[in-house]
Amino acid sequence: MKKFLMGTNWKMNKTLAEGLDYTTGLTTIIAPYSQFEFFIIPPYTHLWKIKEAITAQKSPLKLGAQNMHQQDSGQFTGEISPVMLAEIGIDIIELGHSERRQYFNETDQTVNLKTLAALKHGFTPLICIGEQLVDKDYHVSKEMLAKQLKIALNDVLADDIGNFWIAYEPVWAIGVNGIPAETPYVEEIHNFLRSILIDRYGARGADVPLLFGGSVNINNARDYALLKNVDGLFIGRSAWEPDLFKAIIVAVGDLSNKV
Ligand code: 13P
Repeated sequence: MKKFLMGTNWKMNKTLAEGLDYTTGLTTIIAPYSQFEFFIIPPYTHLWKIKEAITAQKSPLKLGAQNMHQQDSGQFTGEISPVMLAEIGIDIIELGHSERRQYFNETDQTVNLKTLAALKHGFTPLICIGEQLVDKDYHVSKEMLAKQLKIALNDVLADDIGNFWIAYEPVWAIGVNGIPAETPYVEEIHNFLRSILIDRYGARGADVPLLFGGSVNINNARDYALLKNVDGLFIGRSAWEPDLFKAIIVAVGDLSNKV
């Protein structure tokens, strides 16, 4: 059985000292839970030190960056390249998070270029897609999601299956003002995303991990995790303390009977 994925995006939170404390706490907590694959996505400035801490503890915890430029180097002030992240030994590159789309002009096209660059450099792109509330209200969520997914995966080949992950995060469900999505809605959308992947890649489309994120918490985590086409949870606020993350791991519980 594929390992169920569980990870957290720290966004622009935590000092380095806080991040190191968190990492030490979490590596201890996750040690007995080998049925899950865990990841954390800290700010860039923490990555070297946190990588050292994970390595020193011989932990399976995976490490991600919150963004990446698609070029190896160049005149792009303020950007970080794949070569720089590869030096650190980063596993995952989060791409297209709704906050990057909303505040930093990230587009479907740049997400595609970054996805291709991440794959080329041996990272696992974690491609985030999600509809706005207005899309949901006007019943065009699926159209919006299909567009985001298809553009992000343009020129991504079946050979890369297993090397990229998709996170569905409805924008209206994310963050302090987010409204947790109803489980049947998540089920419907994940089934729809799966059908797009199967149309695109044939039966192998079933092997693309589909994570759900947006106000995942201790009360809804297991309901989401039990859905057939939910292969992981991508968590923000509710996993920003190791003990809170642990409570979600315990709430998700045993998934060995999941079909
Ligand atoms: P919240 O869990 O805080 O809603 O954030 C989710 C998220 O944005 C993960 O990338």
